[in-house]
Amino acid sequence: MSGVGTPARPTLGERFSAAIYDPILLLGELRGMRRRRAGLLATARGRVLEIGAGTGLNLGHYPAGLDELVLTEPDPGMAERLRAAVRRSGRPATVVEAGAQELPVADASVDTVVSTMVLCTVPEPAAALREIARVLRPGGRLLFAEHVLSGRPRAAARQHRYADAWERFAMGCRCDRDLLAGIRAVLEPAEVTEVTWWGMPSLVHPMVVGVALRPGAPYRAG
Ligand SMILES: C[S@@+](CC[C@H](N)C(=O)[O-])C[C@H]1O[C@@H](n2cnc3c(N)ncnc32)[C@H](O)[C@@H]1O
Repeated sequence: MSGVGTPARPTLGERFSAAIYDPILLLGELRGMRRRRAGLLATARGRVLEIGAGTGLNLGHYPAGLDELVLTEPDPGMAERLRAAVRRSGRPATVVEAGAQELPVADASVDTVVSTMVLCTVPEPAAALREIARVLRPGGRLLFAEHVLSGRPRAAARQHRYADAWERFAMGCRCDRDLLAGIRAVLEPAEVTEVTWWGMPSLVHPMVVGVALRPGAPYRAG
C-alpha cells in the first residue's frame, strides 16, 4: 500500500475541530447511530478499507477475523485522534492520511469499503465513488450510512436553502446531496433502508443505510 508516510502535524484549528467532533455527534450516537454502525459493520469481511474514518467511531464495531483493516482519513487532526483510537483499541489497523478521491491501494484489491457520513463532505462525491468502485474486487461491497437530500419537496427545498450556511458551520458537510443517485451511478445498491438521524439537526435527518455491490458481481450475503 502506498501513502503510509509520516503523519502531517495538525494545526490548532484542525485539533480543535477534531476534539469537538465526538461531543457534537454524541446525542445522535446515543439515539440510534451507534446501533446502526454496529449493524452495518457486522457484515464487513476480508480486506476492509474505510474512507473518512474520522475519530474512529466505527472502530469498535468491526468483527474479529478481518484479513486487514485500512482506515483512511485526510484531515490531520482527525487522523491524530484516529491513531490514538486504534492504539487504545488494540486492534490491528493501519491509518493512512488520504482522501477518498485518491485511495492508496491497487485496483480490485478490497473486499469491503465503508463510508459513514463521508460522501456529504468530500469535495467531489462522484470522483470518490469512482475511486471506491476502482478499488473494490468483483463481489466487493460498499457499506454505507450517509445523510442525503430529502425525498419530500419542502424538506429538500429547505436543505438547498441552508446548504451553504450549513457547510460553513459543519466543517464542509453538504446537507443537500442526492448520494443514493451517486452510488447508483457506479455501483448496484443491494439493500437500502431510509432512516432518520435522530439527535442531529433536521437538515441532516434523512439518511440512507445500505450495501452496494461492484457492478456485474454476484451478491453473496454476509
Ligand atoms: C462527518 S465526518 C464522518 C467521520 C466518520 N466517518 C464517522 O462516521 O464518524 C466526515 C469525515 O470525512 C472526512 N473527509 C473530508 N474530506 C474528505 C475526503 N476528500 N476524502 C475522505 N474523507 C474526507 C473528514 O475529515 C471527516 O473525518
